[in-house]
Amino acid sequence: MLKTAICDLFEIKHPIIQGGMAHVGTAELVSAVSNAGGLGIIGSGFYEPDWVRQQIHLTRQQTSKPFGINIQLASPFAKQVIEVALEEQVAIISTGAGNPEPYIPRFKQAGMKVMPVVNSVTLAKQLERAGADAIVAEGTESGGHVGETTTMVLVPQVVDSVRIPVIAAGGIGDGRGLAAALALGAKGIQMGTRFVCSTESIAHPRYKQKILEAHNSSTVVTRQILGFPQRSLQNKLTDQFQELEKAGLSKEELELFDRGRMYLGLIEGDIEDGSLLAGQIAGLIREIKPVKVIIEEIVAEAETIITSLKNFYRED
Ligand SMILES: Cc1cc2nc3c(=O)[nH]c(=O)nc-3n(C[C@H](O)[C@H](O)[C@H](O)COP(=O)(O)O)c2cc1C
Repeated sequence: MLKTAICDLFEIKHPIIQGGMAHVGTAELVSAVSNAGGLGIIGSGFYEPDWVRQQIHLTRQQTSKPFGINIQLASPFAKQVIEVALEEQVAIISTGAGNPEPYIPRFKQAGMKVMPVVNSVTLAKQLERAGADAIVAEGTESGGHVGETTTMVLVPQVVDSVRIPVIAAGGIGDGRGLAAALALGAKGIQMGTRFVCSTESIAHPRYKQKILEAHNSSTVVTRQILGFPQRSLQNKLTDQFQELEKAGLSKEELELFDRGRMYLGLIEGDIEDGSLLAGQIAGLIREIKPVKVIIEEIVAEAETIITSLKNFYRED
């Protein structure tokens, strides 16, 4: 069976991580992924500390397996959520949208494993020096906040630059993606968009359906001006956002326009005026399936591919 350093580090069966996702990374999805042998991660997003604590408790009621929590460093509640994670002794910390360096010593003192998400080689090296246990190298194909480098280009460069295990994220949705990530030197994968379209995810059915209908160029990146470029499915909101950016609205005005849009799209299912975060891999996703099936199919497909690659060798 496919086993990597990530399986040992996080004490999980399969080298598959469900990326912490704002609004969607709730106890339902997290516990399903961890129960299926992957690593589920609670997405704390911009939620208040009490909500995060409740999600930790709910997850513990539904699984005895390891799980993690994603700290959105841009959240106004980030510092308080960090305190909750420390008090609750969540075993694994993932961080997004920023540099977690100042917080790493406290996580390490508390015996937690730290796995920051990065989109540059420089930040990966800096966080290894700061004590990170693993690095998620996330390419621009990803859903959510993105950098500029593709997964194919970023992952091997991060692998060559650090000694700790690297996890590939962005544009992975099946066993071919897992096999490719391992070939690039990663020790596992992190997926977001694929898990949005799982039976257990609380994402609104209309949002899931939009992902199922997507093709390879259905996503766009907006919000560069706010300092957090974000990839989502193109809709009325992204068109309006691009027009307002061109019209030169101030950062404050755009922030106001953007407020609440993610919840509106992901949870309330407003597919035109809400934000529908998704990666380019949406074009590959055709079915909503239970988490366990998604994970087992990906592992089986990757194992078959890895074994069959030797067929490319010829005697002559
Ligand atoms: C709906 C959604 C919400 C997300 N929210 C967060 C977040 O709060 N913090 C974070 O670090 N990453 C977030 N991400 C990124 C995912 O954790 C993951 O790294 C990414 O989706 C991987 O790329 P993929 O979508 O191509 O699988 C989000 C992604 C999606 C699709």
